[in-house]
Amino acid sequence: MARRRIIAGNWKMNKTPSEAVALCAELKDLVKNDAVDVVYCVPAIDIVPVVEAVKGTNVKVGAENFYIEDKGAFTGEISAPMLKDAGVEYIIIGHSERRDIFGENDILINQKVKKAFAAGLSPILCCGESLALRKADTYKAWIERQITWDLDGVTADQVKKLIIAYEPIWAIGTGETATADQAEEVCGLIRELIAKLYDQATADEVRIQYGGSMNAGNAAELLSKPNIDGGLIGGASLKPDFGQIVNA
Ligand code: 13P
Repeated sequence: MARRRIIAGNWKMNKTPSEAVALCAELKDLVKNDAVDVVYCVPAIDIVPVVEAVKGTNVKVGAENFYIEDKGAFTGEISAPMLKDAGVEYIIIGHSERRDIFGENDILINQKVKKAFAAGLSPILCCGESLALRKADTYKAWIERQITWDLDGVTADQVKKLIIAYEPIWAIGTGETATADQAEEVCGLIRELIAKLYDQATADEVRIQYGGSMNAGNAAELLSKPNIDGGLIGGASLKPDFGQIVNA
């Protein structure tokens, strides 16, 4: 079946609110493509101005993090209903930076996936191995374990709407990209795992992105692979290059 391509920028901790609005203006004409889902996942403080700035365009807005409770005494956190009310449609969950720097584990990530669906947000669930696991050739089992835990109790109907991003940690922000064959190997493996955990129809619908130094030069080859349905882009999402990736 034909899956719709999804190109998402992960701005990470970049762009003040006024810089964010300026970037939206700079990219506006470059990211026009009605055949592709285009998403900007932005810092929490940029959400309100970015939702306003992309009104009337094909761009959707995503968040980079949230907490699993709806409201209450959780100083410093924001909730899924708050994001939803602000106009957010996508949410990145389980990014390696949140796992490694902020200690998020698969139990919390699993709760976040379920909470996001309950709140009407589309999760972009990230997985990926370190360089050590890649070198030890244990990366496949690692990724299978991550996804199996992260999707515990998630229904087939939900998984059909899920986006999974394969982001090898050794390729994030390093300029070193997985080759298209390396990326396709793991994205294919993820799809097979979804077929095993659920069924083939679910595996055929789930969208799988590659992330890790994707740029204007390598996007077309990566995106030509049968199991790669899009990209989750860090550094290059902050530049006009993002338009070239959307239209690759
Ligand atoms: P880079 O594109 O900067 O390597 O970042 C990838 C990433 O972490 C996207 O979530």
